[in-house]
Amino acid sequence: MLKIWAMSDIQALKTEITDEIEAATDLQKLEDVRVTVLGKKGRITALMKTLGKMDPEERKTKGQALNVLKDEIALLIKTQEAALKKQEMAERLATETMDISLPPREERKGRVHPISQTIEELVTIFASMGFKVAEGPDIEDDWHNFTALNFPPGHPAREMQDTFFLPEDEREEGERAKKLLRTHTSSVQIRHMQENQPPIKTICFGRTYRSDYDMTHTPMFHQMECLYIDKDVTMAHLKGCLTDFVRAFFGLDDLPVRFRPSFFPFVEPGAEVDIGYTKKADGSIKLGKAPEGEEQKWMEILGSGMVHPNVLKNCGIDPEEYQGFAFGTGIERLAMLKYGIPDLRTFFECDVRWLAHYGFDPLDRPNSATGQ
Ligand code: DAH
Repeated sequence: MLKIWAMSDIQALKTEITDEIEAATDLQKLEDVRVTVLGKKGRITALMKTLGKMDPEERKTKGQALNVLKDEIALLIKTQEAALKKQEMAERLATETMDISLPPREERKGRVHPISQTIEELVTIFASMGFKVAEGPDIEDDWHNFTALNFPPGHPAREMQDTFFLPEDEREEGERAKKLLRTHTSSVQIRHMQENQPPIKTICFGRTYRSDYDMTHTPMFHQMECLYIDKDVTMAHLKGCLTDFVRAFFGLDDLPVRFRPSFFPFVEPGAEVDIGYTKKADGSIKLGKAPEGEEQKWMEILGSGMVHPNVLKNCGIDPEEYQGFAFGTGIERLAMLKYGIPDLRTFFECDVRWLAHYGFDPLDRPNSATGQ
């Protein structure tokens, strides 16, 4: 390190550094020069550090000279850098070629899963009838999933649904300690009635779980549940609401709808609802009224009924004053029928090719102004 230096040393240093800068033929070499001059241990930096030991008069003149040198060198480096960059670009332009006949890269846009699409369509239909969306937990207890819905303990109807039971919750007692994955969204009816007084007009969408796996069953699937409680609600309201809903959903004004008596512990009377279809020559299904001479076939799509007085009582609602209807259905089943998807398991295999085929345009949503 230069301890004592004269003003003439600055001139010599400037010439030396200028030569080095001019000799730097690429950006990396130029950067190396910059570090040896202006870096923490650089030559000019070292000279700066000697200023502290000088008397004030000397420090003033030499300090000024050093600052001028520093600025000049910094400018030289900048100029050289710009020249090198220009030169580099000129070389690239001269040597690199671009094939403008190549097709553009495909634009990749995600697709909306048929389950999400179907839920949005259902929300749109039921919102137009004045229903609000309710929610409940996937992890339920035995009381909400069964007992409150009028499944007495030990009743064989509990066996209708292959339940995933979870370890008991030690903080709770009795049926509320018995945790399980909800087997149906009917449990949300209970939670909603416990927390709200009639009139109640809700729909609920959610994941449900049963220990089952084949072409038409997966351990996790989705259900929709509808609940309407008010004074003077009758079976006629149920039939009207359901008929309007399935016809709107499938887009068929004359879709045949049939109510068949059936048993569910939480409704009385209970009914299963079928819709009409015909079988085409290739074996595929066509929803709708059978033309003259063809056989009208029926398939079941949902369960429904008038809410059982015991269920209302269990939720603190007086069955003498209020009645209502409820129905529940599988969302995958509705989507499979509407969009011709043959295998339920494919819904949850996360295959992007499947989604590209059966998915929906994210910019064309059912409840947007441009949607259906
Ligand atoms: N929870 C029934 C199931 O999962 C479906 C159902 C039937 C729901 C009748 C209802 C109903 O609300 O009234 O099989």
